[in-house]
Order: sequence, then C-alpha cells, then structure tokens
Amino acid sequence: MRATAIAQPNIAVVKYWGKRDLARNLPAVGSISITLSTLYTEMQVEIETGLVDDALLVNGAENRTLLARVSNCLNIVAGTDRPAVRVSSRSNFPIAAGLASSASAFAALVVAADAVFALSLPRAQLASLAGRASGSAARSLLGGFVELENDANDISVTNLLGATDWPLEIVVAITAPGPKPVSSGDAMEISRRTSPFYDLWIEQQAGDLAEARAAIEQRDLQRLGAIAEHNCLKMHSVMLGSRPPMIYWNSATVACMQTIRELQASGVNVFFTIDAGPQLKAICAATDAATVRAALAATDGVVEVMQSGVGEGARLLST
Ligand code: PMV
Repeated sequence: MRATAIAQPNIAVVKYWGKRDLARNLPAVGSISITLSTLYTEMQVEIETGLVDDALLVNGAENRTLLARVSNCLNIVAGTDRPAVRVSSRSNFPIAAGLASSASAFAALVVAADAVFALSLPRAQLASLAGRASGSAARSLLGGFVELENDANDISVTNLLGATDWPLEIVVAITAPGPKPVSSGDAMEISRRTSPFYDLWIEQQAGDLAEARAAIEQRDLQRLGAIAEHNCLKMHSVMLGSRPPMIYWNSATVACMQTIRELQASGVNVFFTIDAGPQLKAICAATDAATVRAALAATDGVVEVMQSGVGEGARLLST
C-alpha cells in the first residue's frame, strides 16, 4: 500500500517566531503566509510487508538525521502501533536552508499518511497534526493567503484569499544554498529564553496581524509590504538580541535588501521578507516580476533566483 502527496512551501508575511508549548509545538503567535506554486515537495509513504523500522530517503539518499522527526509525525497521525513505512521525499529546491522545506515536507507527509493509513481526517485536523511537526507546515495545508491562529489548546488555519484571488509573484534570491547553522526550532527557543525584545515581539503581533489582514483584504501591496518588512526585521531583531546572537544573513542578503530599496525608490511596488536563513524573498505584482528577478540576479553574491506564483494547498497525487 502506497500514497503520494505534494505540497508547496509557504512564505510568511507576518512571521511565527517562538513557541508557547514545546511539547505540543504550539506557536506563541499567529502568522499569515502565502503558499507558493512552483516550489514543491513530493512525499511517498509505503507500507511494506516485513519492514521492521521506518526508512527515509530524501532526494534519493538515505537520511537518518530527519528520520526521527518523520517517524514522530507519523506516530502523531496514525498512532505508535502503526506498521513501519518506507518514506521517500523529493524537493525541487534546497532543503533546510530557510526556504520552508519543512513546511512543504510535513504538509505532504500528513496528507500521504492520512491516505496510506485510510484515516480520512478532516483538513483542519491534518493542519493541526502537521503543525505538531513544524509550525509553518500547518499553513501549507491550504493554498493562497493563509492565517494561522492559535488559542490555548490548538492551532487553526483559515483562507484569507484563494490561490487565484490576488496574482502576486514571489522571487527568491538564493545567496547560500547550504543548510542553516541553527535550526529555526532551536533558534526560537534561544530567543524566548534570552532576547530582551521577545516579550515586545509577542505583544505587538496582534496589531501586525490585523494590519496585514486588512492589506490582504484590500489587495493593497504597498500596505502589505510595509507591515511585512517591519514584522520580518522585528523578528530578526529578536534573533540579534538573543544570547548567543543569531545572524542568518550574509553580505549578499543585505545587498539584496539594498536592491529592493533601489527598486522601491525607482517606483517598483515590491517588498522583501527573510526567514531563518540567508535567502531573500521579494513579493511583487506579476507585471513587475521580470524587473525584480533581473535586479536580484544581478546583485553581488546571488547564486540562483527562483520564481513562484501563489499556489494550492497540499493534496494527494496517487494511491
Ligand atoms: O515551522 P518552522 O519551525 O520551520 O519555523 C518557521 C519560522 C519562520 O520561517 C522563520 C517564520 C514563519 O512563520 O514561517
């Protein structure tokens, strides 16, 4: 028995940084993201007779480092008395490099697991289960513009706009494709324990979410850009103020921010956001994507530029 699912990563315009409950991986704040269309992870889960322990292949190579997290996610979905499975994942973009590969991987994993174990769980529950493995993964269960809300006991995801309601383009400038030095999970815990800015970050999030929600409802790119850049730089300030400090940027990341400022000064409606990695994501109208792409590709230190529209939520490909 075998099932294959696909999911796209999502890019947060109002970020999640910090956990309220470590054991259940509940985020300390809500967040809003855009699901991408062209970057993806395909995940195959297969029940194989005679297999004693779970096995994991990532892009064709056995991966023991990620296996525990994958097995744990499968236990959360199907229980610990489930049969062992062979899991195989394939992504068309660099993984663990601040490009939300865990979001697409775990969103696809819960959808494939739901099918292979014949559970037929509702999407809201799949989102909650994916969120236990990676906070941002819950958002990739839905397409378009997605808000993740957190209450005392659980998370929930809702669609603010569908995938075709506001045709923006996301241009990703890759400045270093290698894995990040500190995982986002570890880094946000260091921030919670040590950053003097952490409490202020949590306190201001509701206001940032309301502003971004209003901008998305009005499809006002400039308004969304202003709050998204502010929220992103505030999250990085929390990291910079942590002990030890965490600096995910390199010189090319900063050069890309400068490129975005120059584009804005020349009248291009574009904004940037950066996650726990050195890559910069620029968001603009489809009509400006070629200009933004060319400017980022010409920026010193950029090794590759990828582009995506707004995409659909995680879905089953085959069983
Ligand atoms: O879901 P995680 O553990 O990969 O954390 C994601 C954290 C950020 O990407 C930095 C922000 C976000 O909301 O996606």
